[in-house]
Amino acid sequence: MIEMFSPALTQAIQTAADFLREGKLVAFPTETVYGLGADAANPDAVAKIFSAKGRPADHPVIVHLGDISQLKNWAKEINPDALLLAQHFWPGALTLILQKADHVSSLVTGGQDTIGIRIPGHPVAQALLKSFAGGIAAPSANRFGHVSATQAIHVREEFGDVVDFILEGGDCAIGIESTIVAANTEKLRILRPGAITGKQISDVLGYSISSMLGDDKKIRVSGNLASHYAPLTPLRIVSREKLRGVIEEFISDNKSIVVISRQSPLLTHPLLYWVTMPIDNKNYAHDLYAKLREVDVQNHTAILVEELPQEENWVALRDRLHKAEMK
Ligand code: TXA
Ligand code: MG
Repeated sequence: MIEMFSPALTQAIQTAADFLREGKLVAFPTETVYGLGADAANPDAVAKIFSAKGRPADHPVIVHLGDISQLKNWAKEINPDALLLAQHFWPGALTLILQKADHVSSLVTGGQDTIGIRIPGHPVAQALLKSFAGGIAAPSANRFGHVSATQAIHVREEFGDVVDFILEGGDCAIGIESTIVAANTEKLRILRPGAITGKQISDVLGYSISSMLGDDKKIRVSGNLASHYAPLTPLRIVSREKLRGVIEEFISDNKSIVVISRQSPLLTHPLLYWVTMPIDNKNYAHDLYAKLREVDVQNHTAILVEELPQEENWVALRDRLHKAEMK
């Protein structure tokens, strides 16, 4: 596919690739969320990601590649099922955890012998990766534990001038982070649910893949920490049945609140700011982080989020809200 970019965007992609080669930090769009990128082969550059994010050093970052032919430069002993998923879902919202190649810096892998790899499908990310021609180490472009960025402006708000260059690529179409599959062991497992569902993955594999139970302390996935993907305002998940009662409690205590719900407002009150979210999971995911950012700066006592459906399509969103909930 040939992408037609404006001359300004073509120039910006070129500049971003040059900056990466110089060991600088470049934020770039992907179809999931914005990434905070550095040359994965340059440990000094990768170290800058950790200090910009305030991220613990033992926390691995994903390496983004432009093409599946580059996989062998970064990973070894790729199991046939992993390859099947790669061929089916890349470019796309899938990250595979594989056995790392020997040369890969332990800064990238958080000291583990595995590496997370993803080939993103966003045309601007693809063009950047082609132009740079190497691996781009990139976590989500947010301060550690905070809500991921789904627009370039969010990245600027998070980092200011700490990021050397922000590549503008519009809104991220998906809006939540990739599905992570551990494929470094014989039995594949989902470590982080995402836009690609367990069912879609199981269908490709021809057997049912399980999600990680909370007992695997060896693998450090940020979503496993007590609080993640979180706004600063305390967030609480409330069932549809209890919503009205909880709202009324806050109001009678004279506390201002935000409600994020797929229903239209159940009541109106000066202390209540109601956000009506899309009914379907795709649009909900697209909007969620931007809405959380918007209401987080309004100085409310709490954000009440109406509980989401149990169905497979909502698993990743339920996971993110659960992680964002105050503990
Ligand atoms: O959609 C996404 O995955 C976005 C875009 C920018 O690609 N990236 C992203 O990165 O969400 P980050 O760092 O915020 O989350 C990636 C997760 C982290 O929890 C990290 O611990 C885990 O992937 N991870 C990376 N490499 C790993 C490895 N070798 N073993 C286990 N977990 C790994
Ligand atoms: Mg993140």
